Amino acid sequence: MNAPVLPGYWQEQGIERVLLDEATIAARVRELGEQLCNELDDGREIVLIPVLTGAIIFAADLMRAMPTRVRFSLVSVASYGAAITSQGAVRSGALPANLAGKHVVIVDEILDSGATIRLLRKEIGELNAQSLRVCVLLRKQNEKALSTPCEMVGFDIPDIFVVGYGLDYDGSFRNMPFVGVLNLASIGMGSKG
Ligand code: IMP
Ligand code: MG
Repeated sequence: MNAPVLPGYWQEQGIERVLLDEATIAARVRELGEQLCNELDDGREIVLIPVLTGAIIFAADLMRAMPTRVRFSLVSVASYGAAITSQGAVRSGALPANLAGKHVVIVDEILDSGATIRLLRKEIGELNAQSLRVCVLLRKQNEKALSTPCEMVGFDIPDIFVVGYGLDYDGSFRNMPFVGVLNLASIGMGSKG
């Protein structure tokens, strides 16, 4: 297979290569949506809980890949600033209300240290949902990510810093329609850390 073409604009912004192109992501998101419908469509309400901010693009596409009644309830967790390594997870704002008896799916764009998902699974796990799943688009191949319980994973990827499709570096690149690898030299960082 040919390597996906890297659009010139994004190359100029410091993107080194495409890791997952738009078509590949779209096909996998459709599969995840179908899987969720098959597993959960029993008449109970389904609530997707995207983790702000990075999960919004994935969650918006995922919900449109689910031809059933779906609600959205947002939760906000901060873990990264201008750094590229995890700094732990802190929830800001309220937990979603009225989840009792419903099928709940926590949706995040990437599983890295697992701090975000562990925190939310614990907190949301106390809200008496009928079922609770975690669905992430990407999971990094590192020990912490792989040991974090997670029911649905779109893609397992190398343990490198990626941006696009909701993922940012210091607030930028969320609107890049594919997942790409940032050239760390271009942001003044030689290696991860
Ligand atoms: P965790 O709590 O360490 O698993 O990190 C989860 C959050 O960190 C994600 O929801 C992202 O917002 C952010 N994150 C982790 N890895 C990356 C990356 O490679 N690029 C951009 N953001 C990342
Ligand atoms: Mg996030």
